[in-house]
Amino acid sequence: MRHVIEPTDLSADEINELIAVAEDIELNREKYSSLCRGKILAALFYEPSTRTRLSFESAMLALGGSVIGFASSEVSSASKGESVADTIRVVSCYADICAIRHSKEGAALVAAKYSHIPVINAGDGGHEHPTQTYTDLLTIHSTKKRLDGLTIGLCGDLKFGRTVHSLIKALSLYQNNNFILVSPGELRAPDYITALLDSRGRRYEQTAELEASINRMDILYMTRVQKERFFNEEDYIRLKDAYILDRKKLSCANDDLVVMHPLPRVNEISMDVDKDPRAKYFAQVQNGKYVRMALILKLLGQQSGVRAC
Ligand code: NCD
Repeated sequence: MRHVIEPTDLSADEINELIAVAEDIELNREKYSSLCRGKILAALFYEPSTRTRLSFESAMLALGGSVIGFASSEVSSASKGESVADTIRVVSCYADICAIRHSKEGAALVAAKYSHIPVINAGDGGHEHPTQTYTDLLTIHSTKKRLDGLTIGLCGDLKFGRTVHSLIKALSLYQNNNFILVSPGELRAPDYITALLDSRGRRYEQTAELEASINRMDILYMTRVQKERFFNEEDYIRLKDAYILDRKKLSCANDDLVVMHPLPRVNEISMDVDKDPRAKYFAQVQNGKYVRMALILKLLGQQSGVRAC
Protein backbone atom coordinates (compact mmCIF):
# COMPACT_ATOMS: atom_id res chain seq x y z
CA MET A 1 0.00 0.00 0.00
CA ARG A 2 1.32 3.45 -0.98
CA HIS A 3 0.66 6.86 0.56
CA VAL A 4 1.47 10.28 -0.95
CA ILE A 5 2.54 12.67 1.77
CA GLU A 6 5.03 14.67 -0.28
CA PRO A 7 5.37 14.87 -4.07
CA THR A 8 8.58 12.86 -4.15
CA ASP A 9 6.82 9.88 -2.63
CA LEU A 10 6.43 9.16 -6.35
CA SER A 11 9.64 8.85 -8.39
CA ALA A 12 10.23 11.12 -11.39
CA ASP A 13 9.26 8.19 -13.66
CA GLU A 14 6.03 7.69 -11.74
CA ILE A 15 5.27 11.43 -11.86
CA ASN A 16 5.83 11.40 -15.64
CA GLU A 17 3.47 8.46 -15.92
CA LEU A 18 0.88 10.20 -13.74
CA ILE A 19 0.99 13.21 -16.06
CA ALA A 20 0.68 10.98 -19.13
CA VAL A 21 -2.38 9.30 -17.61
CA ALA A 22 -3.90 12.69 -16.70
CA GLU A 23 -3.37 13.88 -20.29
CA ASP A 24 -5.04 10.73 -21.57
CA ILE A 25 -7.96 11.22 -19.16
CA GLU A 26 -8.50 14.70 -20.58
CA LEU A 27 -8.81 13.24 -24.09
CA ASN A 28 -10.68 10.01 -23.29
CA ARG A 29 -12.85 10.62 -20.24
CA GLU A 30 -15.38 7.92 -21.07
CA LYS A 31 -12.66 5.23 -20.92
CA TYR A 32 -12.15 6.02 -17.23
CA SER A 33 -15.75 6.53 -16.15
CA SER A 34 -16.25 3.26 -14.31
CA LEU A 35 -12.75 2.18 -13.26
CA CYS A 36 -13.51 2.93 -9.60
CA ARG A 37 -17.06 1.61 -9.46
CA GLY A 38 -17.75 0.36 -5.94
CA LYS A 39 -14.80 2.27 -4.45
CA ILE A 40 -15.15 5.02 -1.84
CA LEU A 41 -12.98 8.10 -1.32
CA ALA A 42 -13.02 9.72 2.14
CA ALA A 43 -12.31 13.47 1.98
CA LEU A 44 -11.26 14.52 5.49
CA PHE A 45 -10.90 18.29 5.42
CA TYR A 46 -10.08 19.80 8.81
CA GLU A 47 -9.06 23.06 7.08
CA PRO A 48 -10.95 25.23 4.53
CA SER A 49 -10.78 24.28 0.87
CA THR A 50 -12.62 24.91 -2.37
CA ARG A 51 -10.56 23.50 -5.25
CA THR A 52 -8.74 20.65 -3.55
CA ARG A 53 -11.75 19.07 -1.86
CA LEU A 54 -14.13 19.56 -4.75
CA SER A 55 -11.59 18.32 -7.30
CA PHE A 56 -10.91 15.17 -5.25
CA GLU A 57 -14.64 14.56 -5.00
CA SER A 58 -15.25 15.36 -8.64
CA ALA A 59 -12.30 13.10 -9.62
CA MET A 60 -13.68 10.10 -7.72
CA LEU A 61 -17.20 10.63 -9.09
CA ALA A 62 -15.81 10.86 -12.64
CA LEU A 63 -14.14 7.47 -12.07
CA GLY A 64 -17.51 5.95 -11.11
CA GLY A 65 -16.73 5.83 -7.39
CA SER A 66 -18.41 7.46 -4.39
CA VAL A 67 -17.36 10.02 -1.81
CA ILE A 68 -17.83 10.47 1.95
CA GLY A 69 -16.19 12.91 4.34
CA PHE A 70 -16.37 16.23 6.12
CA ALA A 71 -15.49 19.77 5.10
CA SER A 72 -14.51 21.22 8.46
CA SER A 73 -13.18 19.98 11.78
CA GLU A 74 -16.19 21.45 13.61
CA VAL A 75 -18.54 18.86 12.13
CA SER A 76 -16.19 15.95 12.83
CA SER A 77 -15.30 14.25 16.13
CA ALA A 78 -12.10 16.32 16.17
CA SER A 79 -14.31 18.92 17.87
CA LYS A 80 -14.85 16.38 20.68
CA GLY A 81 -11.12 15.79 20.96
CA GLU A 82 -10.61 12.74 18.74
CA SER A 83 -7.09 12.34 17.38
CA VAL A 84 -6.20 12.01 13.69
CA ALA A 85 -4.80 8.56 14.48
CA ASP A 86 -8.15 7.33 15.83
CA THR A 87 -10.20 9.01 13.11
CA ILE A 88 -8.20 7.38 10.31
CA ARG A 89 -8.52 3.95 11.90
CA VAL A 90 -12.28 4.43 11.84
CA VAL A 91 -12.35 5.86 8.30
CA SER A 92 -10.29 2.87 7.11
CA CYS A 93 -13.39 0.74 7.86
CA TYR A 94 -15.60 2.83 5.58
CA ALA A 95 -13.47 3.89 2.61
CA ASP A 96 -10.88 2.55 0.15
CA ILE A 97 -8.72 5.68 -0.09
CA CYS A 98 -8.51 8.96 1.77
CA ALA A 99 -7.49 12.57 1.14
CA ILE A 100 -6.72 14.56 4.28
CA ARG A 101 -6.14 18.28 4.83
CA HIS A 102 -5.11 19.55 8.24
CA SER A 103 -3.66 22.74 9.71
CA LYS A 104 -0.88 20.84 11.50
CA GLU A 105 2.34 19.94 9.71
CA GLY A 106 2.79 16.18 9.81
CA ALA A 107 -0.92 15.33 10.27
CA ALA A 108 -1.07 13.40 6.98
CA LEU A 109 2.02 11.43 7.93
CA VAL A 110 0.42 10.47 11.24
CA ALA A 111 -2.73 9.43 9.39
CA ALA A 112 -0.66 7.26 7.02
CA LYS A 113 0.99 5.54 9.97
CA TYR A 114 -2.34 4.38 11.40
CA SER A 115 -4.26 3.89 8.18
CA HIS A 116 -5.30 0.65 6.48
CA ILE A 117 -6.05 2.51 3.23
CA PRO A 118 -3.88 4.78 1.00
CA VAL A 119 -3.61 8.33 2.38
CA ILE A 120 -3.12 11.37 0.17
CA ASN A 121 -1.92 14.58 1.79
CA ALA A 122 -4.25 17.35 0.60
CA GLY A 123 -2.21 19.98 2.49
CA ASP A 124 -0.64 19.83 5.97
CA GLY A 125 -0.16 23.27 7.51
CA GLY A 126 2.68 25.24 5.95
CA HIS A 127 4.49 22.06 4.92
CA GLU A 128 3.47 20.22 1.72
CA HIS A 129 0.70 19.95 -0.86
CA PRO A 130 1.69 17.20 -3.32
CA THR A 131 -1.49 17.01 -5.41
CA GLN A 132 -1.32 20.75 -6.11
CA THR A 133 2.20 20.09 -7.34
CA TYR A 134 1.09 17.33 -9.72
CA THR A 135 -1.56 19.78 -10.95
CA ASP A 136 1.13 22.42 -11.49
CA LEU A 137 3.42 19.95 -13.29
CA LEU A 138 0.61 18.96 -15.63
CA THR A 139 -0.02 22.64 -16.39
CA ILE A 140 3.68 23.25 -17.07
CA HIS A 141 3.93 20.12 -19.22
CA SER A 142 0.86 20.98 -21.26
CA THR A 143 2.08 24.53 -21.94
CA LYS A 144 5.87 24.08 -22.21
CA LYS A 145 5.91 20.43 -23.37
CA ARG A 146 8.70 19.69 -20.91
CA LEU A 147 9.51 19.75 -17.19
CA ASP A 148 13.25 20.36 -17.47
CA GLY A 149 15.50 23.20 -18.63
CA LEU A 150 13.16 25.86 -17.20
CA THR A 151 13.67 29.03 -15.20
CA ILE A 152 10.91 29.08 -12.62
CA GLY A 153 10.09 32.19 -10.61
CA LEU A 154 8.17 31.65 -7.39
CA CYS A 155 6.84 34.83 -5.82
CA GLY A 156 5.13 35.77 -2.56
CA ASP A 157 4.97 33.80 0.67
CA LEU A 158 7.71 31.22 0.16
CA LYS A 159 7.98 30.57 3.88
CA PHE A 160 4.46 29.35 4.71
CA GLY A 161 3.30 28.49 1.18
CA ARG A 162 3.09 24.69 1.10
CA THR A 163 2.42 24.64 -2.65
CA VAL A 164 5.78 26.34 -3.16
CA HIS A 165 7.67 23.82 -1.04
CA SER A 166 6.17 20.86 -2.86
CA LEU A 167 6.63 22.38 -6.31
CA ILE A 168 10.31 23.16 -5.72
CA LYS A 169 10.87 19.63 -4.41
CA ALA A 170 9.32 18.08 -7.50
CA LEU A 171 10.79 20.42 -10.14
CA SER A 172 14.26 20.03 -8.70
CA LEU A 173 14.11 16.35 -9.69
CA TYR A 174 14.37 17.46 -13.34
CA GLN A 175 17.64 18.48 -15.01
CA ASN A 176 18.66 22.09 -15.62
CA ASN A 177 15.81 23.78 -13.82
CA ASN A 178 16.78 27.12 -12.23
CA PHE A 179 14.77 28.88 -9.56
CA ILE A 180 14.26 32.59 -8.88
CA LEU A 181 12.79 32.87 -5.38
CA VAL A 182 11.09 36.26 -5.00
CA SER A 183 9.88 37.22 -1.53
CA PRO A 184 10.26 39.77 1.24
CA GLY A 185 13.20 38.82 3.51
CA GLU A 186 10.82 37.60 6.24
CA LEU A 187 8.99 35.24 3.87
CA ARG A 188 11.95 33.48 2.29
CA ALA A 189 11.81 29.77 1.53
CA PRO A 190 12.77 27.63 4.55
CA ASP A 191 16.36 26.43 4.84
CA TYR A 192 15.39 22.80 4.21
CA ILE A 193 14.16 23.81 0.77
CA THR A 194 17.30 25.71 -0.24
CA ALA A 195 19.41 22.90 1.24
CA LEU A 196 17.56 20.47 -1.02
CA LEU A 197 18.30 22.65 -4.06
CA ASP A 198 21.97 22.72 -3.04
CA SER A 199 22.09 18.97 -2.58
CA ARG A 200 20.54 18.38 -6.02
CA GLY A 201 22.93 20.91 -7.61
CA ARG A 202 20.12 23.19 -8.83
CA ARG A 203 20.85 26.87 -9.32
CA TYR A 204 18.67 29.38 -7.46
CA GLU A 205 18.71 33.00 -6.41
CA GLN A 206 16.79 34.77 -3.68
CA THR A 207 15.61 38.31 -4.32
CA ALA A 208 12.97 40.78 -3.17
CA GLU A 209 12.58 42.26 -6.69
CA LEU A 210 9.98 40.87 -9.07
CA GLU A 211 10.27 43.47 -11.82
CA ALA A 212 14.03 43.10 -12.16
CA SER A 213 13.87 39.33 -12.72
CA ILE A 214 10.55 38.69 -14.50
CA ASN A 215 12.12 38.89 -17.98
CA ARG A 216 14.29 35.81 -17.27
CA MET A 217 11.42 33.54 -16.25
CA ASP A 218 9.69 30.76 -18.23
CA ILE A 219 7.19 30.23 -15.41
CA LEU A 220 5.98 32.72 -12.82
CA TYR A 221 4.23 31.05 -9.87
CA MET A 222 2.44 33.69 -7.78
CA THR A 223 1.23 32.89 -4.26
CA ARG A 224 -0.86 34.61 -1.62
CA VAL A 225 0.54 35.60 1.75
CA GLN A 226 -0.73 32.85 4.07
CA LYS A 227 -2.69 34.91 6.58
CA GLU A 228 -3.78 31.92 8.69
CA ARG A 229 -0.16 30.94 9.44
CA PHE A 230 0.92 34.33 10.82
CA PHE A 231 1.33 34.79 14.53
CA ASN A 232 0.46 38.45 14.45
CA GLU A 233 -1.92 40.43 12.29
CA GLU A 234 0.34 43.48 11.99
CA ASP A 235 3.00 41.48 10.15
CA TYR A 236 0.38 40.10 7.80
CA ILE A 237 -1.01 43.56 7.01
CA ARG A 238 2.49 44.88 6.36
CA LEU A 239 3.42 42.04 4.00
CA LYS A 240 0.16 41.08 2.31
CA ASP A 241 0.49 43.39 -0.69
CA ALA A 242 4.24 42.99 -1.16
CA TYR A 243 3.72 41.82 -4.77
CA ILE A 244 0.86 42.60 -7.09
CA LEU A 245 1.29 41.33 -10.62
CA ASP A 246 -0.34 43.74 -13.07
CA ARG A 247 -0.23 44.41 -16.80
CA LYS A 248 2.59 46.90 -16.41
CA LYS A 249 4.89 44.38 -14.69
CA LEU A 250 3.88 41.71 -17.18
CA SER A 251 4.88 43.97 -20.08
CA CYS A 252 8.55 43.31 -19.14
CA ALA A 253 8.09 39.51 -19.35
CA ASN A 254 8.63 37.05 -22.22
CA ASP A 255 5.76 36.40 -24.60
CA ASP A 256 5.81 32.72 -23.69
CA LEU A 257 5.86 33.23 -19.91
CA VAL A 258 3.33 31.01 -18.11
CA VAL A 259 1.69 32.74 -15.14
CA MET A 260 0.41 30.31 -12.53
CA HIS A 261 -1.21 30.55 -9.09
CA PRO A 262 -2.58 27.70 -6.95
CA LEU A 263 -5.52 29.95 -5.98
CA PRO A 264 -7.26 31.34 -3.99
CA ARG A 265 -6.07 34.73 -5.23
CA VAL A 266 -6.44 37.58 -2.80
CA ASN A 267 -4.64 40.59 -4.24
CA GLU A 268 -1.44 39.20 -5.80
CA ILE A 269 -2.64 39.21 -9.40
CA SER A 270 -4.63 42.13 -10.66
CA MET A 271 -7.84 41.07 -12.45
CA ASP A 272 -6.73 42.77 -15.65
CA VAL A 273 -4.05 40.06 -16.03
CA ASP A 274 -6.78 37.37 -16.35
CA LYS A 275 -7.33 38.20 -20.01
CA ASP A 276 -3.63 37.93 -20.88
CA PRO A 277 -2.99 34.70 -22.84
CA ARG A 278 -0.05 34.01 -20.52
CA ALA A 279 -2.39 33.68 -17.50
CA LYS A 280 -2.92 29.94 -16.95
CA TYR A 281 -4.27 29.81 -13.39
CA PHE A 282 -7.80 28.83 -14.37
CA ALA A 283 -6.57 26.14 -16.77
CA GLN A 284 -4.51 24.92 -13.82
CA VAL A 285 -7.73 24.32 -11.85
CA GLN A 286 -9.12 21.98 -14.53
CA ASN A 287 -5.86 20.03 -14.52
CA GLY A 288 -6.30 19.38 -10.79
CA LYS A 289 -9.21 17.06 -11.48
CA TYR A 290 -7.32 14.99 -14.08
CA VAL A 291 -4.18 14.44 -11.99
CA ARG A 292 -6.25 13.50 -8.96
CA MET A 293 -8.14 10.97 -11.08
CA ALA A 294 -4.79 9.58 -12.23
CA LEU A 295 -3.47 9.46 -8.66
CA ILE A 296 -6.55 7.72 -7.26
CA LEU A 297 -6.23 5.10 -10.02
CA LYS A 298 -2.58 4.59 -9.27
CA LEU A 299 -2.99 4.21 -5.50
CA LEU A 300 -5.96 1.89 -5.89
CA GLY A 301 -3.98 -0.20 -8.36
CA GLN A 302 -6.43 0.34 -11.21
CA GLN A 303 -4.68 0.05 -14.57
CA SER A 304 -5.01 2.85 -17.10
CA GLY A 305 -2.86 1.16 -19.75
CA VAL A 306 -1.05 4.47 -20.43
CA ARG A 307 2.76 4.71 -20.31
CA ALA A 308 4.87 7.87 -20.17
CA CYS A 309 7.00 8.32 -23.28
C1 NCD B 1 -3.43 26.36 -1.72
C2 NCD B 1 -3.34 25.68 -0.36
O1 NCD B 1 -4.36 25.30 0.21
O2 NCD B 1 -2.21 25.54 0.08
N1 NCD B 1 -4.70 26.26 -2.31
C3 NCD B 1 -5.00 25.15 -3.04
O3 NCD B 1 -5.06 24.06 -2.53
N2 NCD B 1 -5.17 25.30 -4.36
C4 NCD B 1 -2.87 27.72 -1.76
C5 NCD B 1 -3.34 28.73 -0.76
O4 NCD B 1 -4.22 28.46 0.07
O5 NCD B 1 -2.81 29.83 -0.82
